[in-house]
Amino acid sequence: MKYDFDSVTDRSGTAAWKWQVKEGELPMWVADMEIKTAPEVIGALEERAAHGIFGYTDIEDAWYEAYTGWWERRHGFTMKREGLIFCTGVIPAISSMVRKLTTPNEKVVILTPVYDIFYNCIENNGCRALECELVYKDGAYSIDFEDLEKKLADPQSRLLLLSNPHNPTGNIWSAEELQRMGELSKRYGVTVISDEVHCDIVRPGKSYVPFASVSPLCAEVSASCLSPSKAFNLAGIHSAAVYAENEILRHKVWRGINTDEAGEPNVFAQCAAEAAFNKGGEWLDALMAYLFNNRDRAEEFIKNEIPGIETVHSDATYLLWMKSGRDAAEIREKTGLILSEGREYGKGGEGFVRMNLACPSTMLEDGLGRLKRALENI
Ligand SMILES: Cc1ncc(COP(=O)(O)O)c(C=O)c1O
Repeated sequence: MKYDFDSVTDRSGTAAWKWQVKEGELPMWVADMEIKTAPEVIGALEERAAHGIFGYTDIEDAWYEAYTGWWERRHGFTMKREGLIFCTGVIPAISSMVRKLTTPNEKVVILTPVYDIFYNCIENNGCRALECELVYKDGAYSIDFEDLEKKLADPQSRLLLLSNPHNPTGNIWSAEELQRMGELSKRYGVTVISDEVHCDIVRPGKSYVPFASVSPLCAEVSASCLSPSKAFNLAGIHSAAVYAENEILRHKVWRGINTDEAGEPNVFAQCAAEAAFNKGGEWLDALMAYLFNNRDRAEEFIKNEIPGIETVHSDATYLLWMKSGRDAAEIREKTGLILSEGREYGKGGEGFVRMNLACPSTMLEDGLGRLKRALENI
């Protein structure tokens, strides 16, 4: 194999958030990877660092072209250059949009269980989360559109905050589902924020559907959050974008992001995104083969060796969502394996845990072994 995904990289001394743990513990929670980014990205960052001047930085044409080129090639979606706004992260963008597009005490509809930080974005900015619980049946999740319509029809509902693909269940929403969400949102005057940060982590041969690509209506009612941070393991570089075709909405979003001072790049933000999108495709293809091999291995191991756990099969994200009937805290206490607690993902998350599979296979085996021991001993 041309790329090395098997080597374990010691992250001690790098202030890695995920590794602020006790000795001997194995963190498989925070969603970053135990795999180095693409050599092409490392090369571009080294070159930029070697320049030695790190002054104020503007967004240049090459940044826009890197985004539009990637979405065209990888997702068959022609984005309009002027629709893109730089932002220092997806979460800063979502929080900014919640502040700008709502007034205090209004509601933001979310499909739960969902990425826990969505609650922070909503509640820390004066709004209320209106939970539309996904239907869990036969090991898979789907949307209860009747319930969703009820929630969107609430006159207090201003936003639908969507994870596309969905963290933590790994759902890839279909064009039909997205269109229905778009139509209902339009009917009730709700703006859709489509968080697409996980969009490039899909099983080889599968693809996600960009919300704005579905129809002119979907493009009109939405602002999408895009970033190379998940697929290329660049979360600490703080480089993301919002895509909004609707000019009035876009201006508001841009105004909000700038007022919040989240619209100016650090010197590495731009060159990392450009290198990832322009040169990182081959590396990403190889990584996806590796990560989905990890997923298949984990699902198979759990099915055969840990009968008490039900895994949710998925073709997106490197996150394995499973019904364990055990708390992550208990699993950590017994074996040092750190997973994310399901109930933190809101309604429907109780009794589940989430495991981050983006690691070398030896680390995965260690994690699976610990999980088995934990379940045998609780
Ligand atoms: C759905 C979702 N959105 C956003 C983020 C974080 O994005 P950023 O680091 O760009 O703020 C994550 C990280 O796990 C995520 O899962």
